[in-house]
Amino acid sequence: MANYQDSLMWKEINEWPLRVEECEKNLPLIKKIAEEYKKNNLEGIYTVARGTSNHAMLFLKYLFESYLGIPVVNGNPSSVTIYDSQLQLKNFLVIGCSQSGEAEDVLQVLRQAKDNKSMTVSITNKETSPLAKEANYHLYCAVGEEKSVAASKTFSAQLYLSYLLVKAFDEKKVPSIHDLAAKLTEAAALADKETTKMANVLYKAKECFVLGRGITSPLAFEAGLKLQETSYIHAFAYCSSIFYHGPMAMINTGDKVILLAPSVSLNDKATALIQADEIKAAKKMIELGADLLIVTDNPELFKGLKASCYSLSKTADEIEGAFYLALFIQMLACKVSHLKGLTPDKPRALKKVTITI
Ligand code: AGP
Repeated sequence: MANYQDSLMWKEINEWPLRVEECEKNLPLIKKIAEEYKKNNLEGIYTVARGTSNHAMLFLKYLFESYLGIPVVNGNPSSVTIYDSQLQLKNFLVIGCSQSGEAEDVLQVLRQAKDNKSMTVSITNKETSPLAKEANYHLYCAVGEEKSVAASKTFSAQLYLSYLLVKAFDEKKVPSIHDLAAKLTEAAALADKETTKMANVLYKAKECFVLGRGITSPLAFEAGLKLQETSYIHAFAYCSSIFYHGPMAMINTGDKVILLAPSVSLNDKATALIQADEIKAAKKMIELGADLLIVTDNPELFKGLKASCYSLSKTADEIEGAFYLALFIQMLACKVSHLKGLTPDKPRALKKVTITI
């Protein structure tokens, strides 16, 4: 492929801002789901998903738990598909998330939950899929068919639907995002510029580490997965608080560490804590001799440190920042893949739909 711009992945990444409005058509249904959850006095949420879709569900978990105190269990489908367990989910809202809507394991959990009278919701990008039909409520990504094996616009839509759902549960506690489509278009232009620089630094690496914290952790996991499948880089992704408990011992001098470091969080207190935590992570990586690449909307925070900073669009809201980060990591993976002479749309050994139990 002569240029990364010719890849399906690149086109699909850039389609997302144009699809935001379509995705918002789910709002009436989302409001109904929130009302029914409250009417039935449900006590928590249980999610099932694989791969990228599961990273979106981890984002949903962070939002529900951190902003609203509603516990979310990130479920293991194997408890149903292999262990044949009867999950006690009567007081839970059960969400199955799958881009294709064909995930067999997710379907089995959702079916059991519905048979046991739980309230069920599916999130898919295919209205006629088994998961879309199975759940009590179906939220539709509405981003058009995704052909590239590496998911991009569907992930962004899953993040957005997750946000809209949390917001519908409590309009006051969850910040509003206005004109997301226009902001994303701007963020994409900056991310395009910055990821070109960063990809040129990263593409020769055989392995790397990706770190995030709080609601940025799922974005770190997703960045790891994107670099693995498009570029065959052994990318190890962690929540930085977990990284300190063991994986950090793997760091060798010169290893590339990507720190996803948005500078804002839920409120002043959380912002101060997250900034201090990111600076601590950066200093530790430098002390260990890592080659540190920081993606941040506030490079000033890391001034004087021996690290390269790549700019994210500025925002006063961490949720909005997560959408910018999603675009950034997808563009980065697409370009790294191309620089390595690979085709990001067609990772070896993978198919678009993976069926597991
Ligand atoms: C996406 O980049 C991956 N190839 C993969 O993780 C994918 O998200 C996963 O297979 C889940 O598929 P589904 O959402 O269609 O169930």
